Amino acid sequence: MDGYERVATVSEFDQNERKEVIVDDVPVLLIKQGDQFFAIEDVCSHDGQPLTDGSIENCQITCPRHGARFDLATGDALCMPATEAIPTYDVKIEDGQIWLREN
Ligand code: FES
Repeated sequence: MDGYERVATVSEFDQNERKEVIVDDVPVLLIKQGDQFFAIEDVCSHDGQPLTDGSIENCQITCPRHGARFDLATGDALCMPATEAIPTYDVKIEDGQIWLREN
């Protein structure tokens, strides 16, 4: 698939589960919310904290270190202290396989 990297299978995910995967040597957090998958770079744009254990609510993830919040779909920083968006990944599902490509 053009530019996409296969990272996981749908059957690995329970409801609202998340997994860290690697795409082009970059840590990416793959998150299932309801029936939808989101993928974001697993690094806070404020000071580099992994977002792996951040709480998720309303499709927003909160950095566990200083509390910046990011939109899972767009990567946009929604509150201080972060001002820059985090990279997001396009998620494609085909035959139960999950593929990612950086947006
Ligand atoms: S490192 Fe994430 S808010 Fe500071």
